[in-house]
Amino acid sequence: MSLFCCPHCAAPLERGERAYTCPSGHCFDRAREGYVHLLPANRMHSKMPGDDKGMAAARSRFLRSGYYAPLRDALCALALAHTAGLERPAVLDAGCGEGYYTAGLYEALTAAGRRPRLAGVDLSKPSVRHAAKGLAEAEFAVASVYRLPVGDGAVDLLVDCFSPLALEEFRRVLRPEGAFFYVTPAARHLWELKQVLYDAPYPNREEAVAYEGFDYLDIVPVEARLPLPDRQTIADLFQMTPYYWKTPREGARRLAELDRLDVTAAFRIHVFRRRGGGPF
Ligand SMILES: C[S@@+](CC[C@H](N)C(=O)[O-])C[C@H]1O[C@@H](n2cnc3c(N)ncnc32)[C@H](O)[C@@H]1O
Ligand SMILES: [Zn+2]
Repeated sequence: MSLFCCPHCAAPLERGERAYTCPSGHCFDRAREGYVHLLPANRMHSKMPGDDKGMAAARSRFLRSGYYAPLRDALCALALAHTAGLERPAVLDAGCGEGYYTAGLYEALTAAGRRPRLAGVDLSKPSVRHAAKGLAEAEFAVASVYRLPVGDGAVDLLVDCFSPLALEEFRRVLRPEGAFFYVTPAARHLWELKQVLYDAPYPNREEAVAYEGFDYLDIVPVEARLPLPDRQTIADLFQMTPYYWKTPREGARRLAELDRLDVTAAFRIHVFRRRGGGPF
C-alpha cells in the first residue's frame, strides 16, 4: 500500500505500474523514474520550486562522495532504535532532496531485517528525479512539506534534514508516539568555509526549541573533519549552502581560488516524540 494520499480528496492512493489512483478516480501519472507529482494544481507554478537542477546535481555529487556519511550513520542508528519492534515502519523523509539519507535509511532498516515503507517528498523535481532513480524500493513525490500528501497519523518516523520545518503538517502525519528527527547545523558547521567567504563570520545559533505536541528526547551531536581535495568539491559544497546566495563577490572569488580546504561539518540531530492523546 502507498504511503501517499490524494491531494484532491485525501483518500489513500493505490500505486499502480504507471499511475497512482484514488477511489474517487483521481489519477496521477508516474514519471519514467517512478516518482509522482502530487502538488495541488494551484501550487504548480509556485515561484519557489525548490532546488534547481544545478543545485541538485552539486549536492548529489558531494553527498555520494560520502562526506556526510557520519550524519547518515547517526540518523540510521537512531532510526533503528526508534522503530524497534516495528516490522514495517512507515518512514517519511520530508524535503528529501536527492534521497541520500532516504537511501541510507532504507539500507539500514532492511539490513536489520525490517521491511520499511519509505517515502520521500521534495518540492524540487530535479531532486526527486535523482532520488527516485537511486531507490526504486521507496516512493517519491514532488510535493510540499506544507501540504504533505500523506494521511493523518500514517507515519512512524519523520526525518527532516536541513529542510523547511512544517510543524503543523508533521504533527498531523505522525502517529502518537511516532519519532521525529530534525537535523540542524551546529555552531561551527562549515566554519572554515565561512572564514574564507566572510571577513567576520558568525557561528550558527544553536537553539533547542520545545515544539508544541512533541516531547524533546535528545540532541545528538555529529561532527566530522572533511578534507575537500579539489575545486569542484569545494564548489559543490558551497552551492549546497545558503551562503551561495548571500556571499559578496570578493568572498566567492577567494573560495574559487582554493585547491583544497579542510572544513568542519557539525550537525545536531534533534530527536522528538509525537505526544499522544488529542491534537497536541
Ligand atoms: C538543504 S536541502 C536538504 C535536502 C536533503 N534533506 C539533504 O539533506 O540532502 C533543502 C531541500 O528542501 C527542499 N524544499 C524547499 N522548500 C520545500 C517545500 N516547501 N516542500 C518540500 N521541499 C522543499 C529543497 O528543494 C531542497 O531539496
Ligand atoms: Zn482523490
